[in-house]
Amino acid sequence: MNFFSYKNGILSAEEVALDHLAEEVGTPFYCYSSATLERHYKIFSGALPKDSLIAFSVKANGNLAVLKTLAKMGAGADVVSAGELKKARAAGIVADKIVFSGVGKTVDEMRLALAEGIYQFNVESEPELEALNGVALAMGKRAPVTLRINPDVDAKTHAKITTGTSETKFGIPFAHAREAYKLAASLKGIAIVGIDVHIGSQITDLEPFEAAFRRVRELTLILRSDGHPITRLDLGGGLGVPYIENNQHPPDPAAYGAMVTKVTAGLDCRLIFEPGRLIAANAGLLVTRVIYAKRGEAKTFLIVDAGMNDLIRPALYDSHHEIVPLREPEVGGERVKYDVVGPVCETSDLFAAARSLPPLKSGDLVAIQSAGAYGAVMSSSYNARPPAPEVLVKGAEWSIVRVRRTHEQLIAEDHIPGWLAG
Ligand code: LLP
Repeated sequence: MNFFSYKNGILSAEEVALDHLAEEVGTPFYCYSSATLERHYKIFSGALPKDSLIAFSVKANGNLAVLKTLAKMGAGADVVSAGELKKARAAGIVADKIVFSGVGKTVDEMRLALAEGIYQFNVESEPELEALNGVALAMGKRAPVTLRINPDVDAKTHAKITTGTSETKFGIPFAHAREAYKLAASLKGIAIVGIDVHIGSQITDLEPFEAAFRRVRELTLILRSDGHPITRLDLGGGLGVPYIENNQHPPDPAAYGAMVTKVTAGLDCRLIFEPGRLIAANAGLLVTRVIYAKRGEAKTFLIVDAGMNDLIRPALYDSHHEIVPLREPEVGGERVKYDVVGPVCETSDLFAAARSLPPLKSGDLVAIQSAGAYGAVMSSSYNARPPAPEVLVKGAEWSIVRVRRTHEQLIAEDHIPGWLAG
């Protein structure tokens, strides 16, 4: 459930009418709802064992104000770069609630994370383990480590966001786990603390999660019998969210929590979770203005002022986002099938094909829904388009939490070398 709804005929974020924001901020812009972020966090944390760590996956939405909203609820952070680590710290997330994931951590990033005193490194390969050991020893520290195990489970999600099968670059193969833990135990700069797993994203079925977590349980017992201190299980993120308003909703957090509790029963491990999409996706939308309604030979195009540079998910994954007019449509009113496209010069700059909407014209506003995760963070300035700014709403208050860069700022980022000057 989210806090975007029609109030007095206008789509609103909590108490703020989005057409008012469009006038104040200009279009396109992202709008996030604090109450929705908080609600999702509360529902998820309420479904999990009490002392679990919920490390919000910063890659889903790295806006400082969003991170701070979650930090105030007690969230930690799952980061994958020095940049994300610094953002999480800047938002007030304490270091010992931060886990560091990713296949390509550099020694500079390791040094920063060790100096900060993060909670754990989720290490994804033997060479990474040796590099981390070297950095830790040089700093006179021991790095708390889980090894990310690839359980070879098919998450049955989009091929571009699945990570738990043996063909992907992620994790250490299950069959090599004992050897890798043996190596870790021999390194003086490494302190083994647990096991990590993450099988993919937008997973709408509990079964692949359960299969992966059962393998983690099995491995916990094996590694303990080998003498390794397994006290934490990081179960990753990946829980899917509804993008389409129909009755086929993904599993709810309560069912996920009950399954996790059952599978990890008696292991006496602290559990860590890395949700991203679940918390943020339906807490944000992208408001955009119709530039033209263009009648083509075979189709009618709604050309809007947001483009694939603002929201790349439909172009990259053919993902579905609901699109709704800001002005509440009449029940049973006329409908037109539009291809909703952006102004970017690419055929894939398409938000929705043959989407049924009320008749719209230049100047009308629409909202692209479920855009709070993997939206603004994946934006670019392709076609020299400054990415959409971000607004956070809380009740009747709102604030621009990421400004729109000007063309002049974009131009100033480039540099003319001496030999071209003049
Ligand atoms: N932990 C790790 C190690 C991850 O790689 C990810 C996501 C997460 C947690 C958070 O997963 P979530 O709970 O959000 O599913 N850009 C794609 C999604 C890429 C996900 C990458 N990893 C999209 O827009 O669908």
